[in-house]
Amino acid sequence: MKITKLEKYRPALHFSPRKNWMNDPNGLVFFKEEYHLFYQHNPNSATWGPMHWGHAVSKNLIEWDELNIALYPDDNGTIFSGSAVVDWNNTTGFFEEEPGLVAIFTHHLEGDNGKQAVQTQSLAYSLDKGRTWNKYEGNPVLAHPLKPDFRDPKVFWHKETNKWMMVLATGQTISIYSSPNLKEWKFESEFGDNCGSHDGVWECPDLFELSIENSSNKKWVLIVSIGDNPNYDEGSRTQYFVGSFDGKKFKPEHEDIKWLDYGKDNYAGVSFSDIPMEDGRRIYLGWMSNWRYANQVPTEGWRSQMTLPRELELCERNGDFYLVQNVVRELDNYFDIKEERKETIITQKKQTIFEVDDDYAEIILTLENINAIRYGLTIEHADSQYTTITIDVKENVLNLYREKSGVVDFSANFSKVQRIPLKESKQLHVRMIIDSSSLELFINGGEQALTSLIFPDKACKRMSLFAEEGKVNLVNGMVSVPSKN
Ligand code: FRU
Repeated sequence: MKITKLEKYRPALHFSPRKNWMNDPNGLVFFKEEYHLFYQHNPNSATWGPMHWGHAVSKNLIEWDELNIALYPDDNGTIFSGSAVVDWNNTTGFFEEEPGLVAIFTHHLEGDNGKQAVQTQSLAYSLDKGRTWNKYEGNPVLAHPLKPDFRDPKVFWHKETNKWMMVLATGQTISIYSSPNLKEWKFESEFGDNCGSHDGVWECPDLFELSIENSSNKKWVLIVSIGDNPNYDEGSRTQYFVGSFDGKKFKPEHEDIKWLDYGKDNYAGVSFSDIPMEDGRRIYLGWMSNWRYANQVPTEGWRSQMTLPRELELCERNGDFYLVQNVVRELDNYFDIKEERKETIITQKKQTIFEVDDDYAEIILTLENINAIRYGLTIEHADSQYTTITIDVKENVLNLYREKSGVVDFSANFSKVQRIPLKESKQLHVRMIIDSSSLELFINGGEQALTSLIFPDKACKRMSLFAEEGKVNLVNGMVSVPSKN
């Protein structure tokens, strides 16, 4: 891909809006050879405000074309998060001629004179591949007499019961509804009391079935984002549950809390609907920011970007199930290998340095600790701007320090360390994608991920590996830079 000179912090590989504010990804759907990305958007300012659905499309999940705004506020309120599906069998009656897209979203209506805001679910449909939208005249289609937090519908077709299912964030629970036609909804169950993290309001759920690595079995995964709570340094973050779903109830199969990402900057992520069966992937992407400082990050005229799209799978470790995430293979076309090194011993005195000096980069390392007490790498972005990743062998933890990575003074919280508890620290496989203002780290084939914003003057000048009080073997190291094709 040829990148023309980008403005400061503008990502080369990640979607960001041309102008103004963006938060959650919405309405992720594949239809007629296009991936659609709608998103929470304020077209009038680079901070959060009255929400619209912005819109972009892509043929390959990496290069996006921003289109006109898809949904504008109306008498029912502003347009909060939601999903989109293809109504293949015209269950709605909107599509006499051929199947089309339906968006299911939250209308958020501010209350007058200090009254509570009201959140309801509504529909819009498109007869022209998402270019223009008609709001359904029967909106809203789902309301609740009591719940003030009643939002972020994610809808999917459940073939076993021949119905649409909706998961909805309802305070600190997820409510499940079903419908034959997207217009009439029946309450099925409510999930969440006494399980998972309740550190903040629950938002943006997603429920889907996933295959288990090396097995023909499947399990259901429920993703739940948790809003910012000033009592916790992590800010807003995302948990998930693994279990079963019978068309009415979701039942988790574990008691521990599972985090989707150990970094601070992956929130409100959900998966694409209607990926063709021949493809079969579950593709996810998140908003690469954190409510703690999202409105203050130092970009000018635009704010926020999405994570790279990631393929999700499940793996089993000692009878427990985990999400595995890896960037979609489409990204591979954007890189050429610049340098590869094998079997190189790193000691306190002898660092190993890779020159990078490019607008974005991919670094893949297989490291084997021989006897160091700490080891890791430094990404030098520009003069005196660097991010350090250390593996502390005794504590079995990976720390990412971004306090020297560039501009950090917009939030006291931004400089705090981000941490992955490792399963073991002797052998480590690391894949890292560095873009103009982000780092995405995948450990051991995507078993753990850490997504972090950074605001340096330049993406990456060089990367060096170090070891303290002992030796580490770089079994294999590979640095790739923007492809010339
Ligand atoms: C999550 C969220 C959603 C809501 C939207 C509003 O980041 O708070 O719950 O629909 O953002 O922009």
